[in-house]
Amino acid sequence: MSIQSLFITQLLRDSFTQESGWAELNTDLEQACLQVAEDDEAGQKWCDENGYDGYTSYASLNDLADRANAFSDLKEMLDAKANDFSTASYMDIGCAKWEMDSYWINILNPLAAHSGHIHPHSVISGTYYVKTPEGAGALKLEDPRLAMMMNAPGPNKDAPRSAQRFVYEKPEPGTVMMWESWLRHEVTANMGEDLRISISFNYSLI
Ligand SMILES: [Fe+2]
Repeated sequence: MSIQSLFITQLLRDSFTQESGWAELNTDLEQACLQVAEDDEAGQKWCDENGYDGYTSYASLNDLADRANAFSDLKEMLDAKANDFSTASYMDIGCAKWEMDSYWINILNPLAAHSGHIHPHSVISGTYYVKTPEGAGALKLEDPRLAMMMNAPGPNKDAPRSAQRFVYEKPEPGTVMMWESWLRHEVTANMGEDLRISISFNYSLI
């Protein structure tokens, strides 16, 4: 008898903490994120109007990489990692190249969360974590087949992680995660007493 695992969903997790100059880069990123949040009135207004408890530049800025060297330095590291993810996921991209087409800051206040969503119009999505205080929310990933499982029993208590319906990844500063943009995910509530700061991105093929 053989039991095979088919139709795998890939999640890349890595850490930039061993990269040369990472600690300084991460400090610069934190300061730059807070500065952009303070300056971006359009973004603050969008957060107020849309119930985002904290700050995101998602709806207001499309030039993050040009706003501070720290953002462009991080982008270079992420570009390389997106290529790694593409290769490891056996993506046949022909002559196309990966382009980061969105890049934005997320600052979640204590008790704030970000409900389940996908990232339409992109291929690879992910997040780099700048600041994750004790109790900060995890990334929660959802089995993409969930809508087809109307009568399927849930996994038993001995089931491995690969058989779970939901997977929680607790990031640390310097952690980077990437997945395919169709994979539904959310951020659980920030139970820490400080801000949770991350930088998210989407890649498309050009
Ligand atoms: Fe997301």
